[in-house]
Amino acid sequence: MRKIVIAIDGWSSCGKSTMARQLAKKLNYVFIDSGAMYRAITLYFLRNQVNINNEVDIEKALANIHLEFKLNLSNANNEIWLNGVNVDELIRDIKVAEKVSETAALAKVRDFAVAQQRLIGQHKGIVMDGRDIGSVVFPAAELKIFMTADPEIRVQRRLKELQAKDPDITMEEVRDNLASRDHIDSTRAISPLRKPEDAIVLDNTSLTPDQQLELALTWAQERIQQ
Ligand code: CDP
Repeated sequence: MRKIVIAIDGWSSCGKSTMARQLAKKLNYVFIDSGAMYRAITLYFLRNQVNINNEVDIEKALANIHLEFKLNLSNANNEIWLNGVNVDELIRDIKVAEKVSETAALAKVRDFAVAQQRLIGQHKGIVMDGRDIGSVVFPAAELKIFMTADPEIRVQRRLKELQAKDPDITMEEVRDNLASRDHIDSTRAISPLRKPEDAIVLDNTSLTPDQQLELALTWAQERIQQ
């Protein structure tokens, strides 16, 4: 059966990774959360106090960053490792979320991440989610989905996720973070978040994860069989 590339883009916290992960499992494809790469780079920049206004500092830092996705056999998830250490949980911290969009807007950071994303997807059979996957990383992707959901629903969903690890987190912090990231991501000069013209819009405000997965699977199977 022919393998395709599935690109899933959309606003912050509208369930892209959840759907992409489930879709990849169903199709036996590789799942790549491209946002995890930007988050891991941001974690490194924070830990090493990289000055994001200094091109030389950015270049030096990127030369010291090695990212890998490794399958965690205990939960069957493809998790991100930064310089030999699993950081998949740490990168979800609000401190990283507060800086990631500024970091992801930098040309050198995007070049670094996009080159690796294209390499991972070169043999197809991949589901990748992010902001620019259908528009920039894989413009020829056979299936492009653009996900959206009501902003308040997105805040509630992310709050629940973050509160499970940090009970002190407030709704205001989460709301501000999503709004600020959506603003930076959609207005930045390089690869801003846009719905690709040929993408299918999926608004999951009132869909369960199973319902959205069913829709996406139907679209994927139609394209695989073409
Ligand atoms: O999970 P959530 O929707 O909150 O975000 P994410 O996918 O983990 O992405 C975190 C941040 O990385 C985004 O807000 C963007 O600033 C950046 N990003 C990007 O610029 N391009 C991508 N392909 C993926 C993420």
